[in-house]
Amino acid sequence: MTGSRRLIIAVDGPAAAGKGTLAKALAERLALPYLDTGLLYRAVARRVLDHGEDPVLQGEQHAKAIEPADLERDDLRVPEVDRAASLVARQPAVREALLERQRSVGRVHGAVVDGRDIGTVVFPDADLKLFITASPEVRAQRRYRQRHGEDCQDAELLAQEVAAIVARDEQDASREVSPLKPADNAVQILTDHMDAESVLDRVLTLLQERRA
Ligand code: C5P
Repeated sequence: MTGSRRLIIAVDGPAAAGKGTLAKALAERLALPYLDTGLLYRAVARRVLDHGEDPVLQGEQHAKAIEPADLERDDLRVPEVDRAASLVARQPAVREALLERQRSVGRVHGAVVDGRDIGTVVFPDADLKLFITASPEVRAQRRYRQRHGEDCQDAELLAQEVAAIVARDEQDASREVSPLKPADNAVQILTDHMDAESVLDRVLTLLQERRA
């Protein structure tokens, strides 16, 4: 493993598995940039929807035209964008248009990069590849609490989250280009019974062991 300056850590896995929380905390601990690649697909989807276009067919031009302000919008993490991002992400031309942007971030300073195809396609030579997952029920619970608050007890809303998560997993894992799947040499972590701190500790221990 190289020194921490150019370290690339790939954090892949399905929706709401805790990748973002882990990747952000790791980046902070290791003083590396953090890159949330899902945000790029969300920004493309947002532009497609805003133009009244079809996320199954359109997106390449928007992927080429993404600007920093597109990534800072506060309406990227809403259910319609969850669905549309997963649809634009099925298009090879959209993925191709976003590839170099992702690689250029990590190339100079290293990075902790969170997504679906980081260890398999974007950084196949990453120093450490993690595949973070949890059961659909646990992930839906987490998303539901983020969206509706800790005290919300609406069984129908929760069932909708489970259905949306299962549908998005299926869409992300079944696409022909860069499907969601663990890299051959990824370390898989199932977070059903772990809080964010234990996941971070586990990964920091893993890094120390590899460095030793
Ligand atoms: O990670 P997040 O849930 O924000 O990603 C939104 C969508 O973007 C995913 O459902 C997936 O379809 C797509 N995505 C992808 N490849 C990545 C990151 C995200 O296909 N590296």
